[in-house]
Amino acid sequence: MDLCIIGSGYVGLVSGACFAEVGHHVICVDNDQRKVDMLQAGKIPIYEPGLEELVHRNVAAKRLRFTNSIQDGVDHSQVVFIAVPTPPQTDGSVDLTYIERVAREIAGVLRKGEYRVVVDKSTVPVKTGEKVEATIKRYNREASFDVVSNPEFLREGCAVPDLMKPDRIVIGSSSQQATDLMKRLYEPFKAPILVTDVNSAELIKHAANSFLSLKISYINAVAAICEASGADVEMVADGIGMDKRIGRNFLNAGIGYGGSCFPKDVKAFIAIARQLGTPFSLLEEVERINAHQLPRFIDKIRESLWVLKDKKIAVWGMTFKPDTDDVRNSVAIDLINKLVAEGAQVTAYDPKGAEKAVEWNLVDPKKVRITATPLEAVEGAEALVLATEWKEFANQDLEKVRSVMHTPLVFDGRNLFDPDTMRQLGFTYCPVGRPNVKP
Ligand code: UDX
Repeated sequence: MDLCIIGSGYVGLVSGACFAEVGHHVICVDNDQRKVDMLQAGKIPIYEPGLEELVHRNVAAKRLRFTNSIQDGVDHSQVVFIAVPTPPQTDGSVDLTYIERVAREIAGVLRKGEYRVVVDKSTVPVKTGEKVEATIKRYNREASFDVVSNPEFLREGCAVPDLMKPDRIVIGSSSQQATDLMKRLYEPFKAPILVTDVNSAELIKHAANSFLSLKISYINAVAAICEASGADVEMVADGIGMDKRIGRNFLNAGIGYGGSCFPKDVKAFIAIARQLGTPFSLLEEVERINAHQLPRFIDKIRESLWVLKDKKIAVWGMTFKPDTDDVRNSVAIDLINKLVAEGAQVTAYDPKGAEKAVEWNLVDPKKVRITATPLEAVEGAEALVLATEWKEFANQDLEKVRSVMHTPLVFDGRNLFDPDTMRQLGFTYCPVGRPNVKP
């Protein structure tokens, strides 16, 4: 099938590459000429495992191309995806100006008698589909089209496998013709398809992300009780998670959730519920618990090191989670900046995110020394703080790490290391929601 995707950001680009991989002809449209030039030159603006090969392979096979022209995209496609950003506004509600503009632009290029399915893939508040439809109709009375909601559930860091093998595909549609086309489009993925009305599909995305955030805050609240009582949150999570109705996923305690989805989507869902007159105070508590994780963790560091001013602290990890270069809304970055604000001498290492953290002014390279290796970061350090659970950190030679540190003290914000091993290696080890261990 022929399709175009308007917006070549995270979701747009990875979806485009995956649709091409299963044999469709895909045009990725973006209004940022620099990005289009880059992609046309074979350069990928984001780091996502497997994406570069996928893009190169499908460009070479002539199934994937890039343009800045919506007209070009819409003319050559049966299905037109919208995958533009829906950033948060100061009150937490979703800024829909990009969606509205794209809807008008699509209206401007739809040709009479040429049916198109317009699919919203961006995360949007419930009832946005109705507004997109009304907007296109207002700006083009003769257009023949249907609007479908098709939320995307990919995770950064495993976006390609998530897209190629999704748990489910949600198609929100009130038109049989559009539903049939969408089913054909997704047929090669061999995944369960759930067809709903447009409003329900839109709601599924916010409800799913908020539920996952709720699971994380739940286990973090349990972790606090574990710390106060001497229990071990990992064992508790295993015990809870073995119940199939609950499941072990997303029950990892730590310094809280971050990234460009969970914080934004929980806030948005709270705002949506409020606007609809059905306040969702449970989610406000989810946010409150999450916001509390980092201060609690820093308290623990302070308990050991007392005054943080002038203390040499190494931080491993800057991205909001492993296997991505994304440092937006990263708790690791907040942690670094809070330590710096207290006068600590911070050295930091991240396998992929350090460059962007500096480029985007998220950390001040005059105040944080970024190192080229994890070992360099810990040289002479009075404490090591693990903020992101990259595999590279689990695979470090910890004997060597201990030997170059000033004091063998480790705060593990993601419970990556095994307490017994740490004790045997001679570390004082302070995880989250588990008893501290001493050599
Ligand atoms: C999330 C959703 O998982 C995905 O379905 C949606 O499409 C976009 O939002 P993403 O933000 O890429 O994906 O990352 P995810 O792996 O879900 O992690 C989000 C945050 O939660 C990270 O900061 C991670 O460290 C944290 N997290 C996750 C925990 O603290 N504990 C857990 O058990 C799981």
